[in-house]
Amino acid sequence: MIAKILLGTADIPNNGGELRLAQQGNDFSISLKGVRGDLMNSRVHSSELALAELGCAHIQGVEKSKVLVGGLGMGFTLDAALKATTKSSQLVVAELVPEVVEWNKGPLGECAGRPLDDDRVVVHLGDVAELFKVKQVEAEQATYDAVLLDVDNGPEGFTQADNNYLYSIESLQAIRQTLRPGGMLAIWSAWHDPKFTLQLKKVGFKVKAKTVRAHKGKGSRHTIYLARHKK
Ligand SMILES: C[S@@+](CC[C@H](N)C(=O)[O-])C[C@H]1O[C@@H](n2cnc3c(N)ncnc32)[C@H](O)[C@@H]1O
Repeated sequence: MIAKILLGTADIPNNGGELRLAQQGNDFSISLKGVRGDLMNSRVHSSELALAELGCAHIQGVEKSKVLVGGLGMGFTLDAALKATTKSSQLVVAELVPEVVEWNKGPLGECAGRPLDDDRVVVHLGDVAELFKVKQVEAEQATYDAVLLDVDNGPEGFTQADNNYLYSIESLQAIRQTLRPGGMLAIWSAWHDPKFTLQLKKVGFKVKAKTVRAHKGKGSRHTIYLARHKK
């Protein structure tokens, strides 16, 4: 049995608990102290890739597209979004926990091929919700072609209780305003909640919930909510 080595810990803002980065052989894991199981494990990341592939499918080949990824985690979604977009595109990655960005600059960054080194990437250090606040939205109306969210286990606060706000009608309306017509909000979830599909529809999105597998067509079934801003 290969020993698991704790590489670092980080406090999540707003009393969200403690994130822990560990390595076991070639595999890395990020977990929440006191919560069973991993928030992420580098071995299993097909659905994190699918989030970007499905969320950016409509901008394949489109020049100067703009994509927001929240949060960084191990960088798999960010890397897949870089691969799914053109060289002239810009990607903003919002990450709440500064240490996660630092970890990605160290050995953890190898897992997803060091996406932070790509010049198309801009890091927003802080809560992704700040980018949807009314003032910000007014200043930068209809900015994004795609918003890819994987900050919790599903459409409810997990990393920090404040994240509950992200999935409220008010926040979904604000996110919709940041999307260009035809733009896509894609949300990763460990489960399928039909009530959340209805909530997205109420806000005016055209919605599909896609089931994807955790690991190369196998493993747990995850849901990607695909909410399209109608043109
Ligand atoms: C499950 S991981 C994301 C995994 C990522 N999709 C990947 O491919 O590795 C969740 C990440 O979101 C971050 N996070 C949680 N709440 C956030 C928020 N409100 N704003 C920005 N980042 C947040 C966490 O610190 C963590 O790094």
